[in-house]
Amino acid sequence: MYQEKILITGANGQLGRVLAAGLREKYGKEQVLATDIREPDFDNAPFEFLDILNKKRVTEIIKDHGITQIYHLAAILSASGEWDPKKTWNVNLNALLNILTIADEMDIKRFFFPSTIAVFGKTTPRVNTPQDCPLLPETVYGMSKTTGEFWCNYFNQRYKLDVRSVRYPGIIGHQSLPEGGTTDYAVEIFHAAIKGEKYECFLGPDTRLPMMYIEDAIRATIELMDGPSENISVRTSYNLAAMSFSPREIYEEIKQHYPDFQIDYKPDFRQQIAESWTESIDDSRAREDWNWNHRYDLKAMVADMIKHLRLKLN
Ligand code: SER
Repeated sequence: MYQEKILITGANGQLGRVLAAGLREKYGKEQVLATDIREPDFDNAPFEFLDILNKKRVTEIIKDHGITQIYHLAAILSASGEWDPKKTWNVNLNALLNILTIADEMDIKRFFFPSTIAVFGKTTPRVNTPQDCPLLPETVYGMSKTTGEFWCNYFNQRYKLDVRSVRYPGIIGHQSLPEGGTTDYAVEIFHAAIKGEKYECFLGPDTRLPMMYIEDAIRATIELMDGPSENISVRTSYNLAAMSFSPREIYEEIKQHYPDFQIDYKPDFRQQIAESWTESIDDSRAREDWNWNHRYDLKAMVADMIKHLRLKLN
């Protein structure tokens, strides 16, 4: 019987660890190989160390494990990407080009590339951002993801590689603290509330951004990858949406559960990054093409986050 064998790069990250679990539930534990440049600090077996810049090793792993699908998540995020722009470009774009080339040569059946709201810029319509719109990203992370989307589309058009992608909003999950992103505050704020600490927010109170609960993000990814190829009309990357809120709005919602919770706003360099993005997304193409539908709004997400994090942190 034909069995999928899945490779995840960046599998110890915020999204990777939860996606690995979701794919293992669907395909079986041994069918999903997690790889990362860091050893996991949780059970992520089967696992192999992999530096995605090492082309030879990427090829060997795909061959040795008989990989049929790739989820290429390894990347440096928007805020930490600004510390070393050339390294970020190398990791986010050059490594993508390498692995797309290998995927094509080795006949990979399906390839997933995570894009982001960071592809948008100040020339993009801010509200209900359409699927096709001007992209003038201001971060090197956004530049690499925009160019990455074009390469994905190119590999699909020219070599028929079945590449699929979504532009994730900020992802909120209880499984881990994200690192290096501009939307990280929306996870950190829960940890402070539950520990009874005051939260110092690095974005201003009214900075609205598109966000999504991790349950929805993982389900979207698996549903997109499951659908028949002929339904996938976007081969750059699909807009994807669930909710939008500002730091003040999520704070008010958390206060419903923790009435004494306090917040301070001290915007840093990430404020400028956030302001270059848009505040809400039109994802009707995803909804039409592969029946995407989110389940969590702000209220439901906050309640579920608190339920899980209380158990974990107390
Ligand atoms: N969550 C990401 C970041 O903040 C955006 O894709 O960098």
